Amino acid sequence: MKANLDPIQEAKRSAALKAVEHVQDGFIVGLGSGSTAAFAIEALGERVKTGNLHVMGVPTSYQAFLLAIECGIPITTLDEHPTVDLTIDGADQITPELCLIKGMGAAMAREKIVAAASKLNVIIADDKKRVKRLGENSQSVPIEVLPFAISLTKQKIIDAGGKPVLREGKGKLGPTITDNGNAILDSYFGEIVNPAELEVKIKMIPGVVETGFFVGLTDIAYVGTSIGVDKIERLRRK
Ligand code: A5P
Repeated sequence: MKANLDPIQEAKRSAALKAVEHVQDGFIVGLGSGSTAAFAIEALGERVKTGNLHVMGVPTSYQAFLLAIECGIPITTLDEHPTVDLTIDGADQITPELCLIKGMGAAMAREKIVAAASKLNVIIADDKKRVKRLGENSQSVPIEVLPFAISLTKQKIIDAGGKPVLREGKGKLGPTITDNGNAILDSYFGEIVNPAELEVKIKMIPGVVETGFFVGLTDIAYVGTSIGVDKIERLRRK
């Protein structure tokens, strides 16, 4: 039975339900991370349980993995299925051009790998995630770095115009450790005019594993609002 949700949760769920409509029988589905993607995993699980839908999921995090198991979605890996039919994931910021910041859940490295393996990437979010430019509203860009390289990468991010802060863990002392055993530097760059250029610059720093910039990866975004769900589409890269 559908629980009563607050308007933001309802917006996330509505967006998730739209995205799950894209799933077809036999699909390999990338399972995104975060609270919005969780609604999609639950809805997909319902379709697997009640309908005649056979899919396999590629989780983008330990969170997504555990939830998929709980929801009865069979799990596979990129090694077994290097091409994913569709990935449904959340975002922290979305521009009209479908450039994203992701990674407030520290899962962006695997999320980006699964997105790159996907024929179709669908992003789901509530209206608060919409911005004109990435970096608005004091939003930092999460950057995953090797623990060995924290000090060096911090300095290089400062040299590139950022203000990096080591993300602290919750429920533990010390830094957040990602599913890949790395640290996160949440780095504020102000409003970002050219995210593609900045992404390349940051990725070139030795010790940087991945950034939260998702540029040119997203095909469709469903954004839940108080009156419905907006669909934003981008022409697919060749
Ligand atoms: C996880 O690292 C992120 O990329 C999430 O997809 C993103 O933070 C959105 O999460 P919520 O749906 O919980 O806002």
